Amino acid sequence: MTSSGSGESPPGLGLSLVSAAIEEYAAGHTSARGPELEALARETRQTLASPRMLSGPIEGRLLEMLVFVSGARRVLEIGTFSGYSALSMAEGLAPGGHIITCEVSPEHAEVARRHIAAGPHAGRIEVIVGRALEIIGGLDGPFDLVFLDADKSGYEDYYEAVLAKVAPRGLIVADNTLWGGRVLDADGADEDTAALIRFNDRVAADSRVSCVMLTVRDGITLIRRRDGDSVGGVVTPPP
Ligand SMILES: C[S@@+](CC[C@H](N)C(=O)[O-])C[C@H]1O[C@@H](n2cnc3c(N)ncnc32)[C@H](O)[C@@H]1O
Repeated sequence: MTSSGSGESPPGLGLSLVSAAIEEYAAGHTSARGPELEALARETRQTLASPRMLSGPIEGRLLEMLVFVSGARRVLEIGTFSGYSALSMAEGLAPGGHIITCEVSPEHAEVARRHIAAGPHAGRIEVIVGRALEIIGGLDGPFDLVFLDADKSGYEDYYEAVLAKVAPRGLIVADNTLWGGRVLDADGADEDTAALIRFNDRVAADSRVSCVMLTVRDGITLIRRRDGDSVGGVVTPPP
């Protein structure tokens, strides 16, 4: 994503669409993150530009929950940044599970790889450096869960590229879909906002999928394939 995105921040000071007090209350009633994520968030704030891109404690915990309840074993992330969401999702991974995460910036990837290697999920997360669309093209599905969180101008292409690679009963999670509320202003939309408006309209009108837009954080849309209705089983089989 670009400069203003799914930012980790002190509760209420980031991209939340609810009041600072409510955001703080919600964070205070969300299970605390562990020391690894705490250290990663600290280093990100101190050393990287745009630390607001961190997904943060509430969204990170939500991602962990989604991975856990879905029983996901194969997870794909588009947009690693410093690894906060990848490490959060790893906490919910089923035994034998694996995450592939794509990042175009070698600087971001270096921070992510270092924190992943130092934590309990080393070996379960693979960071691939490069342009996400090219990387996706070279990956075989199915993926049980895909987290979209890279440049907003690419969302439509990422969506089309991953939809065929999502397991029939899998899930796509798209971040920043309310974009600080700017999606309501189609007339004055900048490039990223216009891209998100197109993405949101496309997903909502797509008969291949069922979706729900959550007003959590900066807007999170959950998307699943409709043709998964008739398919038994939840996720890819255990190895
Ligand atoms: C919002 S940040 C990701 C935040 C991360 N998911 C988290 O929750 O901590 C978006 C990341 O996508 C990366 N990115 C932007 N364009 C990309 C592309 N075409 N391919 C891969 N990564 C890209 C950026 O360098 C940035 O690190």
